[in-house]
Amino acid sequence: MSNYNLTSKEKYQNAYQDSMEHPEKFWEEIAEENFVWQKKWENLVDWDFSIPEIKWFEGAKLNITENCIDRHLETRGEKTAILFEPNNPDEPAQHITYNELAKRVNQFSNVLKSQGIKKGDRVCIYLPMIPELAVSLLACARIGAIHSVVFAGFSATALSTRINDSDCKMVITSDGSYRGEKTIDLKGIVDEGLESCDCVETVLVAKRINTNINMKEGRDKWLQPLLDEASVECEPEIMDAEDPLFILYTSGSTGMPKGMVHTTAGYMVYTAYTFKNIFQYEENDVYWCTADIGWITGHSYIVYGPLANGATTIMFEGVPSYPDCGRFWEIVEKHKVNQFYTAPTAIRALAKESDDYVNKYDLSSLKTLGSVGEPINEEAWNWYNEKIGKENCPIVDTWWQTETGGILISALPGITPCLPTFATLPFPGIQPALMDEIGEEINQNNTNGRLCIKFPWPSMARTIWGNHERYKETYFSAYANKYFTGDGAFRDGNGNYRITGRVDDVIIVSGHNLGTAPIEDAINEHPAVAESAIVGFPHDVKGNALYGYVTLKDSGKEIDYDNLRKEINQMITERIGPIAKLNKIQFTNGLPKTRSGKIMRRILRKIACNESDKLGDISTLLNPECVEEIIEGVFVTYA
Ligand code: PRX
Repeated sequence: MSNYNLTSKEKYQNAYQDSMEHPEKFWEEIAEENFVWQKKWENLVDWDFSIPEIKWFEGAKLNITENCIDRHLETRGEKTAILFEPNNPDEPAQHITYNELAKRVNQFSNVLKSQGIKKGDRVCIYLPMIPELAVSLLACARIGAIHSVVFAGFSATALSTRINDSDCKMVITSDGSYRGEKTIDLKGIVDEGLESCDCVETVLVAKRINTNINMKEGRDKWLQPLLDEASVECEPEIMDAEDPLFILYTSGSTGMPKGMVHTTAGYMVYTAYTFKNIFQYEENDVYWCTADIGWITGHSYIVYGPLANGATTIMFEGVPSYPDCGRFWEIVEKHKVNQFYTAPTAIRALAKESDDYVNKYDLSSLKTLGSVGEPINEEAWNWYNEKIGKENCPIVDTWWQTETGGILISALPGITPCLPTFATLPFPGIQPALMDEIGEEINQNNTNGRLCIKFPWPSMARTIWGNHERYKETYFSAYANKYFTGDGAFRDGNGNYRITGRVDDVIIVSGHNLGTAPIEDAINEHPAVAESAIVGFPHDVKGNALYGYVTLKDSGKEIDYDNLRKEINQMITERIGPIAKLNKIQFTNGLPKTRSGKIMRRILRKIACNESDKLGDISTLLNPECVEEIIEGVFVTYA
């Protein structure tokens, strides 16, 4: 058990050193001592970033659900595995024990099989945060089907794009969802999305809001009656270490969303190991991550990581502001939450509200606080530390990505120092590097650079579904033999990393990763629009918000600009989802371009950030005159 429990600074340092000096031996021990294998591996790691090809635990056989469920039944059968807290505080919470979870996952697995789903088939899951969501992931994993969860806030178009890209045979959804005071017609969105998908044979529908919905004959089936008939026994499919476990889409700076493929063994080992240590989870702790399972944070740190450790993990269906802004803290008190993991955008939104919402509740159960998804600013960090942690709970600022599968840089609470605005130190096994613009590694400290990782880790995504070339191009072509994260970072004199933000055209809004190109494509579909460019600008709650510069095909005639703004946002909502709506839209006569015709987003970004005095030399532009016009427009429209 030597390196699995990093309970002191010395243990962390030793583990880190072991992982650098003897990575194979290090991971071999972690994997061997802490997981159930049907067969051990022949080859621990095989990698070549120039192809790129990455394989961990090759030759091993396992099923991740045996590790997340079956192996706990003897000692933790009656322990709560999933604690479901509904949207409505008056509806009772559900404590789903490991025994109960085993039963539900087995039944669900049998339903999948009875509907013709086999190992390797893709199943799209489009569900709200109800227990069926976690159960359906695990059921897919149990029978070897590859799940592709699509966040239930995405539009019909976004859903169908993802279903078609990975050729899903089935969609699992619900009749609708609750979100604060609202209900959302999820099934209606699925029906619309499926109009442009030929691959889906079956839609399983869970009942949540009990509304009348259309059920398409031959395609749509209510889930519950099928579950009721299904056996509670289901032998797990024995998987190869490198069999895909799931696909999860993330936005790229251009084009289609990227279906990141995560494989079985490495993902399991790394998410479990990081969960245990980054939250210092102890038996009988109650852990709560407020993310949605539609994002990687939910996959790794609501479902797989916690369950692999036999933890109690909360699933919350609702929103932080319903019925009022004390909801998070009420839940912390009610379930005596020990570890609380959320996003800076939620912290900033709640910090704006009266402290009475916090002070009403007893938060003394809290031991560790976590932050994820975007840089946490000092003000938000201080509020979190003082008001929620009562200056008594370490805050782990965890840096990672959909692509990395698990947390790569973070403090260990109570063990290594937490520094506001710094993710701090790499986890054992992680070798970060800062690179300069000409591709050289920067060896000194107190400097900025582009963040790369030099050595593989078990949970890295192996490819982009159906497009290995794009995987190579995006992550392995900027710097030879290194994984490029797309983030910039600063390293201080003690080797602590601060993530400074994206260096590509991805903008993080409220913790959601948004590529500018797909949003621009959506806007450009509006018949009145000639061209558009999206940039991010600082926003006090969302971290960043979107600023759109739009040129029209015909700006001469009478135009109702306010209406056009609404229509543009409506198009974005339809094509992508409401999270990608623009906060500001400025109509301009031109966009600044290089002589080769490339839009100079750098200039537009500066203008949007109120830094027009720092534009530098613009005389080499194709159309420098439009810059002045845009700057003036900012003040006309938004002063
Ligand atoms: O820019 C970094 C930012 O979020 C990006 C990854 O987004 P996504 O794949 O959606 O995964 C989010 C949840 C893991 C990163 O490239 N990011 C994530 N965590 C942090 C962060 N930026 C600063 N600090 C963090 N702790």
